[in-house]
Amino acid sequence: MTARFKFSDSINLIKNFKTTGTITPSSGNLVKRLLLPINFADARCIVELGPGNGCVTRELLKSMRKDSELLCLEVNNDFVGQLNKIQDSRLNIYNACATSMRKILDILDIREVDYIVSSLPLALMDDEVVENILFAVDSNLKKGGRFLQYQYSLANYSDVKSLFRAVKIRFTLRNMPPAFVYECIK
Ligand SMILES: C[S@@+](CC[C@H](N)C(=O)[O-])C[C@H]1O[C@@H](n2cnc3c(N)ncnc32)[C@H](O)[C@@H]1O
Repeated sequence: MTARFKFSDSINLIKNFKTTGTITPSSGNLVKRLLLPINFADARCIVELGPGNGCVTRELLKSMRKDSELLCLEVNNDFVGQLNKIQDSRLNIYNACATSMRKILDILDIREVDYIVSSLPLALMDDEVVENILFAVDSNLKKGGRFLQYQYSLANYSDVKSLFRAVKIRFTLRNMPPAFVYECIK
């Protein structure tokens, strides 16, 4: 199930740089760092924002409980087509913006979620969109839940700092480009 590097993924990322914010999928090392805080034994519902080619999605599915659910929200049609090829009954993929999280959780009859994992390029997004996404994250995450987000800068640190009880930051050089990983605790 490990995602192999595909040239077509990078072409898609470059073509849509405004919404992807990168030219290459995340490295295995970054994905590992991003998912490090997840206690999979307890996680019943995980939401992934901006799954792209599914490099994070596949790692989540490897460790998730058999009775858990993964909800993925992705705006890029080509990536949604790729994600739909992953055969796993726990996976729910929606071609939708991260801001529609509540509407989709309602369809699935899920009240709140344990973890929200995001690869969204917050630093490139309009302030209003970031505000709406962080509102959706905060209002759908259970108390004690974690919002896990990677970024190539600390540009949105103050936004998350003001919203969460605690924010821990890790850094990895082993990605192109090197990245900060935020662990935000509700
Ligand atoms: C940096 S790429 C990450 C892809 C992959 N998760 C990875 O780590 O390599 C960001 C992804 O977020 C998606 N995206 C951007 N804005 C979005 C939004 N508002 N809602 C959902 N997905 C979005 C892009 O289409 C892209 O696939």
